[in-house]
Amino acid sequence: MADPNSIQYFEPISILIVEDNEIDHKVLEAMLSEAPPLISRLKTVSSLASAIKSLSSDQFDVVVLDLNLPDSRGQDTLKQLNKMYPDVAIVVNTGAYEDELGVKTLGFGAQDFLVKGKYSTYILNKTLRYAIERKRLEIELKQAYHKLKETQAELIQVEKMKVVGSLASGIAHEVKNPLAIILFGITYLSEQIKPKNKEVQLVFENIKEAIDRANNIISDLLNFSKINHLNKRKEDLNEVIEKSIMLVKHEAERSNVHINKNLDPNLPEVEIDRNRIEQVFINLFLNAIQAMPRGGTIKLKTYSHQIQKNTGEMSWIHDNGFKVGQRIVIACIEDQGCGIATEKINKVFDPFFTTRPTEGGVGLGLSVSKNIIDIHEGHIAIENQRKGGVRVSLAFKT
Ligand SMILES: Nc1ncnc2c1ncn2[C@@H]1O[C@H](COP(=O)(O)OP(=O)(O)O)[C@@H](O)[C@H]1O
Ligand SMILES: [Mg+2]
Repeated sequence: MADPNSIQYFEPISILIVEDNEIDHKVLEAMLSEAPPLISRLKTVSSLASAIKSLSSDQFDVVVLDLNLPDSRGQDTLKQLNKMYPDVAIVVNTGAYEDELGVKTLGFGAQDFLVKGKYSTYILNKTLRYAIERKRLEIELKQAYHKLKETQAELIQVEKMKVVGSLASGIAHEVKNPLAIILFGITYLSEQIKPKNKEVQLVFENIKEAIDRANNIISDLLNFSKINHLNKRKEDLNEVIEKSIMLVKHEAERSNVHINKNLDPNLPEVEIDRNRIEQVFINLFLNAIQAMPRGGTIKLKTYSHQIQKNTGEMSWIHDNGFKVGQRIVIACIEDQGCGIATEKINKVFDPFFTTRPTEGGVGLGLSVSKNIIDIHEGHIAIENQRKGGVRVSLAFKT
């Protein structure tokens, strides 16, 4: 029969013993040193503070933890260590007659427990290795769960878009024709009547404006369901932006909003469907203008950027499949408006999410824009600025 003390494991493990009782840690060290090839590193410390210090400077596979230390006692010791180092396996080393406490520690993040004086070298080795394996599986499970949640959220969004898309195009077509008839009728009537009375003229104007607004909403809806067809060409993004500015100039002037441009003249070309991207910029400019009803400045900036390794700044670039070394073109739109409430910022890309229902908001601008940017394999991010107002960042592949 094989000697139970010499179980053949393949990977040597590193162990941190946290134990203030000298006899207890001597016993542990002695038992562990019976199987030296199975251990790559063994370190003993006698307080929680020194355990934290060791874990922050070195990597250990497993911690054998006494709960009652000079600087921390009971479950808190375990909770604190588990919170700070969630990826390290922890085996609690409890005193004799503390089996019940040992079981409880499993609920606070320990992978297993040992009862002092009641284990052999074999049990000790087995417990440590099982704990490491359990931790590894726990991490894998957590990652899989996280991924699943993300995928689920994406699927829901895609499904929602599909439903909205088909509903929208159906309704839009039905409404577009009657609207055209109304517009034709009203134009015809006003030409026939040629009203001199200012009030009657105003009524005609108001009707035409209302039709215009309805038409715009319908175009949005139709675009929403059609954006999968792109007509991409190499374009100068600055030109596309200038064109969009032209189209919102009137709105901006009316609200006393000034657009301050800082466009990089050496921008590399980007491959885009210019009509679609124009539509994105128009949506973004209109949102910024609408956020500043009493006037203000929109700061607009374009620049190119070669992606360096993850430095923390612009973390969204790295989350979005852009690769290190790739050159991207970035456009940034900052306004001085009201900003977006924290609890709403995650919803602004949802179709039909609007905080301006009474002012004619439909809540399609940003969801359409995001769709357009997504099928260009670009990225759009929206955030509140520290100094107030919103910043929208767009990234395009070159
Ligand atoms: N620049 C901005 N400043 C403040 N809030 C904004 C801005 N852009 C978008 N939002 C918020 O996001 C919501 C959704 O925007 P959007 O999809 O364009 O729909 P809509 O403009 O029709 O409301 C807006 O109702 C508003 O609450
Ligand atoms: Mg909008």
